[in-house]
Amino acid sequence: MTQTPDDTADLNAPTPEQVGAMWDRSGDLLSMALGDSAVHIGMFVPLDANPPVTTLLGLADLAQDRQTEFLIDNIALTPNDHLLDIGCGTGGPAIRLARRTGARVTGINVSKSQLARCDERLADSGLADRVEFTYGNVMELDHPDASYDAAWSIDCFPHLCDRPAGLRETLRVLRPGGRFLLTEFALRGTPDHSALDSFARLWTSPPPTPFPTLLGQIQEAGFRIARVQNMTPNIAVLGEMLHVLFRDRRDEIEQRHGSEAVAYADPLVEHFRTFSREHLDYYLLLLVKPEG
Ligand SMILES: C[S@@+](CC[C@H](N)C(=O)[O-])C[C@H]1O[C@@H](n2cnc3c(N)ncnc32)[C@H](O)[C@@H]1O
Repeated sequence: MTQTPDDTADLNAPTPEQVGAMWDRSGDLLSMALGDSAVHIGMFVPLDANPPVTTLLGLADLAQDRQTEFLIDNIALTPNDHLLDIGCGTGGPAIRLARRTGARVTGINVSKSQLARCDERLADSGLADRVEFTYGNVMELDHPDASYDAAWSIDCFPHLCDRPAGLRETLRVLRPGGRFLLTEFALRGTPDHSALDSFARLWTSPPPTPFPTLLGQIQEAGFRIARVQNMTPNIAVLGEMLHVLFRDRRDEIEQRHGSEAVAYADPLVEHFRTFSREHLDYYLLLLVKPEG
């Protein structure tokens, strides 16, 4: 059965608690294929002719860091700025940003085990005077209006059951003129219902929407779109990399995480590989809260 891209209302959208529980369970597993520095898609393209690594895992880790550095360049903060990191993962990008720019950072997350890793990393970083991590759901923030100069959200919005609420809340806590750097998936083509459903279940997300739906929601929330960059080739490379890395490390994963983890990872990796190649676009958007 095929469906139109917007005909997705019957597919489940997970609660923030379900998303947090998934990251509590599977975060360590994913780091076996992505490295420990970050948990995002990564910037594989364009790659140096001679990357300073000799293994696929090294390449995946390098791609994570390259993406973080690229996003830090693009958010352009000063030491006087305070940034909200929405869906901060294990804290690597927030700490790297604080170290490079001198800015203050507050990271929020719905995964308690990832927040524990954030705090370990923070203790080692010596940046506890400028960086903090706390439990928080972007669709219902308890932060005051206009309390941040900037925000970024790297690969968190694909999980949200109510993206417009996440956009409205982010706009509310930014000061006028504040910048928001967002990465998001967009659906390409018209996959059949079961492919969309599998993707949503395996990724613990609602089904991705077509790009025009995302743009409409951003504008409706009240943001001005300052820049859009298509980063889709990276997602296709990641799909292939995960496939190879999980296959090569299958026994090690089973020893460390048990057979249930392998049973969870096998279909996830396989489905992500084909779905990302055929149906998933990946965008970086720089959004601005209008002045006055
Ligand atoms: C793909 S990981 C990205 C982590 C991090 N941004 C990075 O680049 O390494 C997605 C993160 O978003 C968090 N997350 C998902 N839904 C959230 C929500 N409603 N509010 C806050 N964080 C959320 C997850 O727990 C996870 O840490």
